[in-house]
Amino acid sequence: MDHEDNVIVNRSGNTPFSEILKGTTKSRRSVLRGGTAVGLASLFGSGITRSVLAQEEELIGFTPVSRSRAAGSWIAVAPEYELDLVFPWGEPIDPSGPTWSYPLTPDNQEAQVGVGHDGMWFFPIEGEDRGVICINHEFGSNGYVIGKSDPEDLNDVRISQHAHGVSVLDIAKIDGSWQITGGCNTRRIHVNTPVTFGGPLKNSLFVQTPNGGQPMGTLNNCGCGKTPWGTYLTCEENFNGYFGATNLPNRWIPSEAQQRYGFSENGFGYGWHLFDKRFDVCDPGTDCEEHRFGWVVEIDPFNANAKPVKRSALGRFKHESAEVVIGKDNRIVVYMGDDQIWDYIYKFVGDEDYEAVLARGESPLDHGKLYCARFDFNYSGEWLELTEENRLLFLEIGAQDRILTYARLAADLLDATPMDRPEWITTAPDGRILFALTNNSQRSSGNRANPQAPNPDGHILRIRETDNDYTGTTFRYNVYMTASSKHNTEESFSDPDCIYADPDGRLFILTDGTQQDLMNNQMLVANIETGEVKRLFSGVPGCEITGITPTADRTEMFINVQHPGNGALAVTDFPRLEENPVVPRDATVVLRRTDGGVVGS
Ligand code: FEO
Ligand code: CA
Ligand code: CA
Repeated sequence: MDHEDNVIVNRSGNTPFSEILKGTTKSRRSVLRGGTAVGLASLFGSGITRSVLAQEEELIGFTPVSRSRAAGSWIAVAPEYELDLVFPWGEPIDPSGPTWSYPLTPDNQEAQVGVGHDGMWFFPIEGEDRGVICINHEFGSNGYVIGKSDPEDLNDVRISQHAHGVSVLDIAKIDGSWQITGGCNTRRIHVNTPVTFGGPLKNSLFVQTPNGGQPMGTLNNCGCGKTPWGTYLTCEENFNGYFGATNLPNRWIPSEAQQRYGFSENGFGYGWHLFDKRFDVCDPGTDCEEHRFGWVVEIDPFNANAKPVKRSALGRFKHESAEVVIGKDNRIVVYMGDDQIWDYIYKFVGDEDYEAVLARGESPLDHGKLYCARFDFNYSGEWLELTEENRLLFLEIGAQDRILTYARLAADLLDATPMDRPEWITTAPDGRILFALTNNSQRSSGNRANPQAPNPDGHILRIRETDNDYTGTTFRYNVYMTASSKHNTEESFSDPDCIYADPDGRLFILTDGTQQDLMNNQMLVANIETGEVKRLFSGVPGCEITGITPTADRTEMFINVQHPGNGALAVTDFPRLEENPVVPRDATVVLRRTDGGVVGS
């Protein structure tokens, strides 16, 4: 979902980058911008360069998909690879369930895989070719989900709501291909599924339903994360777009907070609020509903009876992804981005040894502190704590539950650095954290963390925490790669969105946005050390490529093709699963090397 995030809602006036930039010198910037490989080569001479090149051949040895193939009408993959198409929108989550038929019904859709495939993670069962895969369903426009631009009744709204959320699927590899098997873990989580809150908001009136009712649902599930204790994190991104206002004769005046989170009279045009008052910001009975979205939600893939839990200590904003690492003293750290132009990067740091918290039956994600990032001109940065103990935050916003619910407003007050749309985050084998900043065509002056003005094609930022301590409050950073530096070459890509670093030092880059040379959105593999990039896979016209998860031995990789043709059959008939398709369908692709090697090699 590219365009909706380009709306300006941050008018905090935090330091414009032109000012941060003052004092930079060109030579210093060019050394750091080149990344490790350039640094090594220039410092230690050509011997190092040669050994790096040898390693490069091993790491990403496949023959890249050419730019011209990537501009074709069908998916393309490197010649050393083969692929399967699995888990399409509308496939029953249990083989005995309702098969694909269109138009959908609410009952069918909630027993089928949802639409808008995005972040996902596969949880294998050790030693077996089976496991549970959780797949996010970010969004689907009314035009293709309900077959009309506006809902006409609650039935239409329910179809759309049931197409959103998460699919939790028991899958197994049978006769060489991955299949949905059904099983005790299989379930759909959607907008009307009971959920609960954990952390500082657990008992807060700020998110409680009227009369102690049941909080419901998750939506716009974008990127994801996974925890060391085997649970899945699904991230609620553009939640504002599902709300609207009905009492327009009285003119709804959005509050400052509603404006900062982008609420508007018609949202993104889903029209849910017309028939489901939960999504009407003017309905007095559902005042808090808008506070109940915009969180990171934890799902236990192996316990279908466990309610999804909104982990409120991680803050409320347009969550793209959640990268979990283990820091000093065995404390849990979660890196997160808020995907909107001029919005921020955050991290959560647990208070204590996560295993000790688990041992007493609590969640490590419920006990800790939230920080936002400020990037300074000297390539250093600081994590700023969002706490009620900060007098300014307490006076301006209130107690901790309000600070977390209005994390954007709190970060504005601390002068966090507005970024070029933070998307996915991943950890390189050397311990540095990589952040995809997808684009910001409205930037008029650059700074060292967001150097391109305008920035229509995006970049990848890299930070190293001081003393490699993920729990600390200071870091160093540099720009790892600008997409535009690859333009007009066979390495060309734009708009990095989903990124994933494997343990060998490959960076998978998945794109969402207009690519050069009429290329479709694509997945590339970079050698993190050298910065070399090769195109492994390209999608179909109108799609986004997003979501990535390997099998246990990494010889297969699941990736998602989202909104093929933007829902228009005239653009693509992907995935061609039936004889007379009526609408393109999101689907997952399984990639594998034909020689059984690790994916990316
Ligand atoms: Fe859901 Fe920012 O893409
Ligand atoms: Ca995107
Ligand atoms: Ca994304």
